[in-house]
Amino acid sequence: MFRARRTTLSLALIGLAAEAKYGLAPKKFEALPLGNVRPTGWLLDQLQVQTNGVAGHMHEFYDLVSNSDWIGGDSFYSYLEEAGSYWFNAMVPNGILVNNTVIKEKTQEFLDYVLDHQDESGWLGPEVGTDKPRFLWGRYPFFFGAIQMVEYKPSQTDRVVTALHKFVNLANEMLRKEQGVDKWAMTRWEDFVLALQWLHDYHPRGQEKLLVDTMTRLKWSGVPWEKVFSEKYFPRGPVENLTNPFGLELSWHGVNMAEGLKALPATYRFTHNQSDLDAANLAWDLMFRYHGRPSGAYAADEMLAGLEAVRGTELCLVVEAMFSGSYLYQVIGDLKYADRVERMTYNALPATMTADMWGRQYLQQQNQVAAKNMTPNPFPEDGPYSNVFGLEPNYPCCTVNFPQGWPKFITNAFLKTVDGKSLVHLYLGPFSTEVTLSDGNDAKVVVETLYPFGDTLTTTITATKDFDYFVRIPSWVSGGSISVGDGPKEELTPDEQTGLQKVEVKKGVTVLRLRLPAEITIEKRLHGSIAVHRGPLNYAFDIGRAEQVIKTDPRETHAIDLQYDPAEAWEYAIDPSSLVYHHDTPTSGNLPSPIFDSGLPPTRITASACLIDWPLAGDTFASSPPENPECVGPRRVITLWPFGATKLRISEFPVVSFGEGVFEDVVGSQVPLQL
Ligand SMILES: *[C@@H]1O[C@H](CO)[C@@H](O)[C@H](O)[C@H]1NC(C)=O
Ligand SMILES: *[C@@H]1O[C@H](CO)[C@@H](O)[C@H](O)[C@H]1NC(C)=O
Ligand SMILES: *[C@@H]1O[C@H](CO)[C@@H](O)[C@H](O)[C@H]1NC(C)=O
Repeated sequence: MFRARRTTLSLALIGLAAEAKYGLAPKKFEALPLGNVRPTGWLLDQLQVQTNGVAGHMHEFYDLVSNSDWIGGDSFYSYLEEAGSYWFNAMVPNGILVNNTVIKEKTQEFLDYVLDHQDESGWLGPEVGTDKPRFLWGRYPFFFGAIQMVEYKPSQTDRVVTALHKFVNLANEMLRKEQGVDKWAMTRWEDFVLALQWLHDYHPRGQEKLLVDTMTRLKWSGVPWEKVFSEKYFPRGPVENLTNPFGLELSWHGVNMAEGLKALPATYRFTHNQSDLDAANLAWDLMFRYHGRPSGAYAADEMLAGLEAVRGTELCLVVEAMFSGSYLYQVIGDLKYADRVERMTYNALPATMTADMWGRQYLQQQNQVAAKNMTPNPFPEDGPYSNVFGLEPNYPCCTVNFPQGWPKFITNAFLKTVDGKSLVHLYLGPFSTEVTLSDGNDAKVVVETLYPFGDTLTTTITATKDFDYFVRIPSWVSGGSISVGDGPKEELTPDEQTGLQKVEVKKGVTVLRLRLPAEITIEKRLHGSIAVHRGPLNYAFDIGRAEQVIKTDPRETHAIDLQYDPAEAWEYAIDPSSLVYHHDTPTSGNLPSPIFDSGLPPTRITASACLIDWPLAGDTFASSPPENPECVGPRRVITLWPFGATKLRISEFPVVSFGEGVFEDVVGSQVPLQL
């Protein structure tokens, strides 16, 4: 009897130990299920523009994802192995957030097709029923799409979760036999780990041990990101002439690294090891210190590209780094991640698309004086056509992958605290969200704002219980205030680490008014040049452009490739002491649609400037900004616009000094401000 009880007790203890061993460290914040956070105002319009562009139409004509012969054929997701998977990951949230019936049906069809064709072994994907070799990676974006579908439509949970568990069994076996890991699986293992962690968090079905074992095997089968992103090995400049110490050049590949930024926080969840969080923080800092752009992103024209303003940033890198930054904030809770995600979203992402979102670049440049076939080519490892705006310049991957950018930014804009009792408004912009918090509190939040094209946010919260509400105060806010209901304006007191301002909200309706002004700030760049910021926005000289259609897709007349040449002088140096911020108050409360194009945003910065001698390098791109330049023309005032609205631009300027009070001096000789 006694013996028996002891046995039971020790079994229980072993059980507890096992639970701890196969448990995951909690995140600091949890995202809300897809569909709970919705865009409103200009942001809804932006997502609608995306849907009306190539994102919402490619399934009709683009052979990588159009499904004409997909049932019974393999075109839907066979080319590059990944195209359909990327499309699905992006268009699930896009379709749901704009409530587009056709896209919702297409993504459902895709899910059904993939699940219905899972084979006996558990394999998912186009290799089923063929003798194609099986590599794990192509499925990972599909997993993200499937998870989002379950979040939105829980009635599909059992089917998806059963299929994923079946796949995990197979994957674990493959990893034990060292199968299925090609160079892409080696560099993108963290994406599978995130999917496994979702299963572990919400639908473990008693498989915690297998799940954690699979995460561990994935990590050790792949790139050691903690070493790639270490002080010892991290490359401090362009890598084209360096030898990769890991024997895998793809560990310096911009998109892989963007995905890899979430490898270390994901690792922390199963190792519970603070060193993995420290490494994650260091990774982020090294990346942006040595390759960062004023647009918020970093440069990698295929491989890491350093700080020169004409090197490229790949569009896939932008959306993947945004997604990784959102995950990093959720695990670590450091304001720096959220601030930068917002900057990438409001600068780098729109800058690299035409305003109607039918054309996208493969690579964007911070100083981009032409978008055309480059001679000579400034990108050592990408083609000369990489900065043309079109359907699929250089490679097709970004066409199918970019549409995840805006939808996932929106989904990650609100979070819950880990106890499930509080809501966090993380990314600022116009949103609404509705959620039942863990104590049964039904909370609804509507945020009205033009942010980032305005400094004020009016937030109406309706709740059935008292609760703590949090809103992020970006690090660039200076002299901001908050008022709650009819209460007085108060100074902001955000938490230093998380950046969150706590507001104790009573049940019923509460209106918060936030004022979040910012100073103009100057960022020092290479060759003594500067970039200009205010709040989340980088400001650039918008070079007037001559546009030429150089290709029209025979299947879709909107799918054109556009060449841009400069139609005016751009060789300006500016005087940083002369910068003045201007803001129109839109009369209707609405912004133009689309908003990201020349002359449209309501904010701008003027600068005293002069033309200097600034040569081209080759025919199509600017040489480095000249140091200590001399004016070769008269002083004039030029206007800098939000970077995202410029398609040709100078954003890293040489500096001149006209002395104090010069702004008044030049009135009369200036370019009209059109205020
Ligand atoms: C989405 O559209 C359908 C059909 O047009 C409509 O019935 C439904 O209420 C809409 N849902 C949302 C969340 O707007
Ligand atoms: C790499 O080597 C080439 C050829 O010698 C040279 O032109 C280029 O400037 C080098 N790049 C860097 C970043 O050092
Ligand atoms: C935790 O990190 C330390 C230091 O990097 C390392 O030596 C140790 O192996 C790690 N533990 C686990 C479980 O990963």
